Amino acid sequence: MVETAEEPEDPMANKGIGPVSEVTLGAEIDEAMAAEGKSIFETMCAACHKIDEKFIGPSPKGILKRRSPEWVMNMILNPEQMIKEDPVAKALFIEFNMSPMANQNLTEDQARKVLEYFRTLE
Ligand code: HEC
Repeated sequence: MVETAEEPEDPMANKGIGPVSEVTLGAEIDEAMAAEGKSIFETMCAACHKIDEKFIGPSPKGILKRRSPEWVMNMILNPEQMIKEDPVAKALFIEFNMSPMANQNLTEDQARKVLEYFRTLE
């Protein structure tokens, strides 16, 4: 399921490329889901991502103000193709000195929980 990337100047309209075409966020944060997402993040992602500063990769703080939820999930689930074909991911890859975002083989359900955790990081 390949979607065309949208204008890079409007990153919120860009859903990225990958299995996720539509994410519905609840009005309230689901705290149980977010807690599971946090523990997944700490095990699978914290080697490269820190909450309070730029590290090997960007801090996920405030990410949902910069990116659509679909884009975030596609970046988690399909980083290889995102880095090659999505204009925003390509630019990030260059900005981060060509260290690639790692595919940690999360399930879609795990990625959705990490996304919920990201909602708590304002
Ligand atoms: C081996 C290091 C590494 C690991 C592990 C890693 N990432 Fe990344 N990630 C990166 C790098 C580097 C980038 C910047 C883009 C690039 O260079 O590809 C990135 C980019 C991202 C982005 C886009 C950030 C933005 O500001 O748009 C998201 C979202 C992300 N990673 C989430 C995750 C999640 C969730 C996990 C764990 C499941 C994870 N990453 C594991 C290195 C990593």
